[in-house]
Amino acid sequence: MELVRNKITIITGAGSGIGRATAIAFAEDGASVVCADINIGAAQASCETIVANGGTAIALQVDVSDYDSAAKVIADTIAHFGCLDVLCNIAGIGKTKHDQQETPELWHKILSVNLTGTFYMSQHALPHLLTSKGNIVNCSSRAGTSATPWSAAYSASKGGVCALTRSMAISHVYEGLRVNCVAPGPTHTAIGADFMPPEDADRRLMPFIMPLEKIADPEELANAFVFLASDRASNINGVTLPVDSGSRA
Ligand code: NAI
Repeated sequence: MELVRNKITIITGAGSGIGRATAIAFAEDGASVVCADINIGAAQASCETIVANGGTAIALQVDVSDYDSAAKVIADTIAHFGCLDVLCNIAGIGKTKHDQQETPELWHKILSVNLTGTFYMSQHALPHLLTSKGNIVNCSSRAGTSATPWSAAYSASKGGVCALTRSMAISHVYEGLRVNCVAPGPTHTAIGADFMPPEDADRRLMPFIMPLEKIADPEELANAFVFLASDRASNINGVTLPVDSGSRA
């Protein structure tokens, strides 16, 4: 389809799961991709897959929760490709916990990667995206849009990503920048193991974790990122698009 042909695109979390599938989908659609991840070996593996299939990609290490690291990955992208058209903030972590067991360290860790990291990356990318009239696609979660038990920090971080998306979208609407968000439901990736309910969890709440017995493939999420980043979505701004089999419809 080549919806994102020639667009210089940074994808965080590109070493695994939804980020990896999205990096491959962007490259297949003609984008030049920066595979950015805290796990540089995994980012390099995604990059090699893209290049082996004839695409254009580089791998860069980033800790999105670190202000200077986020600045560096943007600067290195500009040094390599000369401009930036799309930023997909997909890197994320999670952990199910009873509220009473959510330690300050875990709370801050989850918030700092999922929410603060999304903002740091976006803030550093902003001058370049304003120049290119580009766009940002964030990654929330169904936990960010509807009630999910045993995940106070994760739900708060992902709800924050939706609010951040709306705020940045409207702040820059007259400057030609779009900011949107994808909210995945359960998807086959490595993060799934972190979302098992606590052993003594109240089973009556299980439908709030898994309302449908259906789990998406990462590629189904990747297509949503490609569409929102493309010019076909030129008048879509500030939305959070659920990609969850309609489980909360
Ligand atoms: P994953 O664990 O397969 O991939 C996450 C990637 O983020 C990993 O490559 C990891 O190294 C990277 N990462 C973690 N911390 C980082 C940091 N500080 N800086 C840079 N990279 C970092 O998980 P998955 O499922 O692909 O997750 C992608 C996004 O999708 C996350 O934001 C997650 O919250 C969201 N999501 C996933 C769902 C699922 O069921 N898999 C459901 C709803 C949302």
